[in-house]
Amino acid sequence: MARILTGIQSSGIPHLGNILGAITPAITLSKDPKNESLFFIADMHSLTTIRNSELLKENTYSTAAAWLAFGFNTDRNIFYRQSDIPEVCELMWYLNCITPYPMLANAHSFKDKSNKLHNVNAGLFTYPVLMAADILLYDAEIIPVGKDQKQHLEMTRDMAKTFNHTYGETLIEPESQIDERLMIIPGTDGQKMSKSYNNFINIFLPDKKLRKQIMGIQTDSTPMEDPKETANCNVFKLYKLLASKEQIEEMEGNYKDGNYGYGHAKQALYELIVDKYVLERARFNELMSNKELIEKELQKGAERARAIARIVLDRVRAKVGY
Ligand code: TRP
Repeated sequence: MARILTGIQSSGIPHLGNILGAITPAITLSKDPKNESLFFIADMHSLTTIRNSELLKENTYSTAAAWLAFGFNTDRNIFYRQSDIPEVCELMWYLNCITPYPMLANAHSFKDKSNKLHNVNAGLFTYPVLMAADILLYDAEIIPVGKDQKQHLEMTRDMAKTFNHTYGETLIEPESQIDERLMIIPGTDGQKMSKSYNNFINIFLPDKKLRKQIMGIQTDSTPMEDPKETANCNVFKLYKLLASKEQIEEMEGNYKDGNYGYGHAKQALYELIVDKYVLERARFNELMSNKELIEKELQKGAERARAIARIVLDRVRAKVGY
């Protein structure tokens, strides 16, 4: 049994890019009977940038609802909210005290963020230590993350090594699992789909609004009658990621034959999304209008996560001399 753990950033309702790039692959990984997965919403890391308590709460619910709607199994796995396990802050302190200042000052993520933001708080600086505590608190073995998190994982291993070296074997050194083939999902303007570019498709919107987002996908000005290229078409690229082989072939035919406008292609993409995600959209809405259902799932996860955290923290406290 391998223990897989990963933290989920909650910056609003997950969009199609998050769903195809992160949620679906992680859920597939969690179905492997050789794995036990701990997935949590990193709502304490969110505090480094979000100061609005309502927004913070809402973001957690919508992120959790999306994972649950896509079928993350919370009986076989552990699904929780970081802030429900305050033990993580205690472990963070012990790690803070063995972490050299220059290691944090050299973190790419800190340099990037502190160059961009005018409010550079200490939370941004110690972000990697909280992340290491997230991982080491649960004896996690495998950490699936994007390339941008690679350095954070190296720091986590360093901290575990230093702790073990100082106090004797205590913490498990985790392995990162970097997804190199990480799919780039194009947004409505052809750039990578991202909340910050405002080019995303939110599949959980009501039909009309969803259709409007899809109709807003940028296309070239080839006239309706003319044959069209699939290669650089944003509508086709998205269609291809979601459709069956037969549907893709049919769409390729439509593009080649002409007399098929981008409006038609967008309508087909809209219908495909509505059809493909009919269950997920219904479940998401049901959860968002019954937040106590989400809360119940998160509480169940918190209890189980905490049971593991206590054991590890006891081990650590004994080693440092408490
Ligand atoms: N920093 C991660 C990100 O931005 C999220 C995260 C927080 C995380 N704690 C973690 C990922 C622990 C893996 C393990 O994506």
